[in-house]
Amino acid sequence: MSDFAGKTVLITGAAGGFGRAMAQRFSAAGAKLVLSDYNAHGLGELSATLDTPHWLLAGSVGDEDHCAETVAIADRETGRLDIAINNAGIGHMPGKTADIDSKQATTCVQVNLMGVFFGMKHQLPLLLATHEKHGSIGNIVNFASLAGIGGAPTLSMYSAAKHGVVGLTKSSALEYARRGVRINALCPAFARTPMVEKGILAGNNNAEGEAHLTRGIPMKRLAEVNEIVQAVEWFCAEENSFMTGQAVALDGGTSAM
Ligand SMILES: NC(=O)c1ccc[n+]([C@@H]2O[C@H](COP(=O)([O-])OP(=O)(O)OC[C@H]3O[C@@H](n4cnc5c(N)ncnc54)[C@H](O)[C@@H]3O)[C@@H](O)[C@H]2O)c1
Repeated sequence: MSDFAGKTVLITGAAGGFGRAMAQRFSAAGAKLVLSDYNAHGLGELSATLDTPHWLLAGSVGDEDHCAETVAIADRETGRLDIAINNAGIGHMPGKTADIDSKQATTCVQVNLMGVFFGMKHQLPLLLATHEKHGSIGNIVNFASLAGIGGAPTLSMYSAAKHGVVGLTKSSALEYARRGVRINALCPAFARTPMVEKGILAGNNNAEGEAHLTRGIPMKRLAEVNEIVQAVEWFCAEENSFMTGQAVALDGGTSAM
């Protein structure tokens, strides 16, 4: 594991499947954490498992003021920001495009795309200031999806929002490539988190349900949480210094077809 002692890591959606595992992983690697989620109870439970100083803020990434406040906490409490992981996300009720509820579609875009934009808008100035002060390279990791690099029938507005995250990632990476901040996106296929187990598989959490869900994945299985979050650590590792503007698929081979 890389050493992140002395670094400050901001994670949104920290109470969920990937978020919780990332918080624990970066804490074990010595980082201080600013953790946001709209699930205040989940944040409290996570807090008890962490070894390093951390600050919790309950609220929605769809609210720009909330995103600004997470960065203000990092600045006030630690005076720096090294890594920002924009992970909070939601799905919508599956359905063909003409059947998707417009309110759900709007919320999906507000959280999955505007939430990443609000985050980056406020994270970038502190990442840049940290680079200027300490010479270290900052990182933004945005959670897109396999649905962000290909179509996802019955999840078209989720897919549209995640394509937006990939576009935002690539465009911003070009803007900041010479200014000490690397910006990349992660594109997982279905993984074993509450989003999949309680959401997509709800009521079908058995071998048959998983086999049906993963029938299009060459490895014919869900990803395990740590198979995804280990990549985040690599994205942010000091040695990984030439990678920016990438949307990396971790998908059991699906996008190779
Ligand atoms: N699990 C998968 O198969 C999968 C695949 C591809 C992409 N993703 C993406 O990975 C990210 C994390 O997903 P996960 O599987 O850990 O999901 P999860 O449901 O386990 O966790 C998501 C977390 O985000 C929080 N959240 C939701 N809306 C929020 C909001 N408006 N403001 C703040 N917090 C909010 C939830 O409370 C939850 O704790 C999401 O962006 C998701 O779209 C997941």
